[in-house]
Formats: sequence, structure tokens, C-alpha cells
Amino acid sequence: MADWAIITGASRGIGREAAARFRREGWNVMNISRQPCPVPDVLNLTVDLAVPGWEARVGQVLGESLGRAPGRVCLVHNAALYGHDDALSLSGEHLRRVLEVNIVAPALLNALVRGYLTDGSSILYVGSTLSEKAVRGAASYVTSKHALVGLMRSTCQDLAGTRVHTVCICPGFTDTEMMRESVGASEAARASTAARQTFGRLIAPEEIADVLLYCAQTPVMNGAVLHANLGQIET
Ligand SMILES: NC(=O)c1ccc[n+]([C@@H]2O[C@H](COP(=O)([O-])OP(=O)(O)OC[C@H]3O[C@@H](n4cnc5c(N)ncnc54)[C@H](OP(=O)(O)O)[C@@H]3O)[C@@H](O)[C@H]2O)c1
Repeated sequence: MADWAIITGASRGIGREAAARFRREGWNVMNISRQPCPVPDVLNLTVDLAVPGWEARVGQVLGESLGRAPGRVCLVHNAALYGHDDALSLSGEHLRRVLEVNIVAPALLNALVRGYLTDGSSILYVGSTLSEKAVRGAASYVTSKHALVGLMRSTCQDLAGTRVHTVCICPGFTDTEMMRESVGASEAARASTAARQTFGRLIAPEEIADVLLYCAQTPVMNGAVLHANLGQIET
């Protein structure tokens, strides 16, 4: 029996490290993103989750790959868009695009994967510190990450009795392209971001990958919102 991790956005950042971590543990890994995952032996499915209509092709590949090997499945909703915006001037087009990737895609993928969720399988949502608080200038991201917690809690309830578990893992400042796009790529920007953590450093994406693997193997975490942020200094 083959175990499968299906990870959105494993072409870089946290998703790429999660793909590497699951592979080292012997899981088969499928990446769903626009660019391929650089980790060897990962099955890449090139999909733009912002453009509706991808479900038929993903469903077909899932059937071809998972249909033959009903081991555990871990679906990791990791891909996300982050944009600087403002709750009082959001454009519909921009908000729809963010919600399409950050919320609609996870919900549609859940439906596609549901039939393959054997005992011990899991659905992991990658939230954010901003799943439970807001900062200025990130309204669409904050809104979508709060919604992800609601989707995870609903997932927990709607999977009752199936022995499939779900967790929302909420990273803090993690050293990836998304973080650099958000706070700036200069050394000064990185240093001032690191200084906002109680440990005085950024989180390595590998650390979040470890938490994801732990959650995939730990059903008692079912329904939990798990913050993995090194402790942020509140100002
Ligand atoms: N880094 C942080 O500080 C931080 C903090 C809190 C939470 N998080 C969360 O952690 C997760 C991973 O973040 P990251 O920092 O690793 O981000 P990242 O480096 O920007 O990677 C984002 C991934 O999402 C994929 N993606 C984006 N748009 C997509 C689309 N339209 N269709 C398909 N895939 C798409 C990208 O793949 P392609 O470009 O190849 O499509 C990429 O692999 C996200 O959910 C993020 O919100 C990150």
C-alpha cells in the first residue's frame, strides 16, 4: 500500500520542504502548482489554482495515481496568494483571485480527494498567524486565512466517524519568497522581521515541514489550530 501526500504549492518555500520531508519518510508526493517541484521523484501536476476549471484534470490524475494504491492520504493545502491591500478599497477582481487560491481551491480539492481518504488519512491546512489576528494592509490575506480556520473546523465536523483528521498549522515569519515579497528582501528588512520573534531569528521552512509531517501522523490533533511561530513579540 502506498501513502500519498498531495501538496499544493510545493514548487518553492514551505511546500517544497514539505515535499522533501514526506519523500524522506517514504511517502509518494504529488505537487499541484504552476511551476514544478524541484524535489526528485515528485509527481508534478501543473495547475493554476486561480483559474477556475482545473478540477476535471486533477480528478483524473488522482484517479490514475491514488486509485491503484489506497494507503494513507495527506492533503496539504499550502498554496496561497499574499497581496498588500486595504479592507476599505479591495477590488472585486483582486479579492476573488485571492479567495480562489486560498479558499475555493482547498474546498474543491477536499471534494476530489474525499473518496481516497482511508483510515489514518489527513487534511492539513496551512494558515498563518494572521488566521487569528489582523495587521494593517493585508485584508484579503487576513480574511482568507481566517476563513481557512472555519473550513478546517467544518472539515473536522463533517469527517466525524471516518478516522480522518484535520489540523490548521499556522506559521509565523518563515524564510521564503512570500515573506521576502511581504517584508522586503534587504538584510535590514530580514533582520527587523527576525527581531520580532522571541528567538530573534526567522523560521526555516524545514521547521514547518516537520510540523506538517508530525500532524499527518498524529490524529489526536484533530480540529486543532496549531501556531508554529517561534513566539512573536507583541507590540
Ligand atoms: N512565509 C511565511 O512567512 C508564511 C507565514 C505564515 C503563513 N505562510 C503560509 O505558508 C504557505 C506557504 O507559503 P510560502 O511562504 O512557502 O510561500 P511561497 O514561497 O510564495 O510559495 C507559495 C506556493 O504557492 C503556489 N501558488 C501560488 N499561486 C498559485 C496558483 N495560482 N496556482 C497554484 N499554485 C500557486 C506557488 O507555486 P507556483 O508559483 O509554482 O504556482 C508556490 O509554490 C502559504 O499558505 C502561506 O500563506 C507563510
